[in-house]
Amino acid sequence: MMENFNYSQKVMEHFMNPRNVGEMEDPDGVGTVGNPMCGDVMRLYIKVEGDRIVDARFKTFGCAAAVATSSMVTEMVKGKTIEEALKISNRAVAEALEGLPPIKMHCSVLAEEALKAAIEDYLRRSKDEGDRRVQPSHKHPL
Ligand code: FES
Repeated sequence: MMENFNYSQKVMEHFMNPRNVGEMEDPDGVGTVGNPMCGDVMRLYIKVEGDRIVDARFKTFGCAAAVATSSMVTEMVKGKTIEEALKISNRAVAEALEGLPPIKMHCSVLAEEALKAAIEDYLRRSKDEGDRRVQPSHKHPL
């Protein structure tokens, strides 16, 4: 049953018709976070080219606000640099959705955290690759 909160039209629209739902093949970063307050879970995938996020997808097991914020955050990060994406706050996501009922603001934290986790994963992976690449130069020449 639909929760009886005062959701904005935009929240309802993104909940009924979420953008970028599903898994991503071969992502450059994946972030999975859970909301300890309700047990809901969000997973966010990003694809990065150069320093720019070119695609984002999500899978969320959660309430309408969690689905709508996931949908919105995937739309907001596309085309942003990693640095710009790191500045996206849960408030910015909620604002883009024309606000959330105060009692549902905690749901938007999931979107911010999932995005940050996906970016951290991406940065870790690229660092590992960088480490692998520089390794040969550490070898002592025979
Ligand atoms: S109630 Fe769990 S994320 Fe909204």
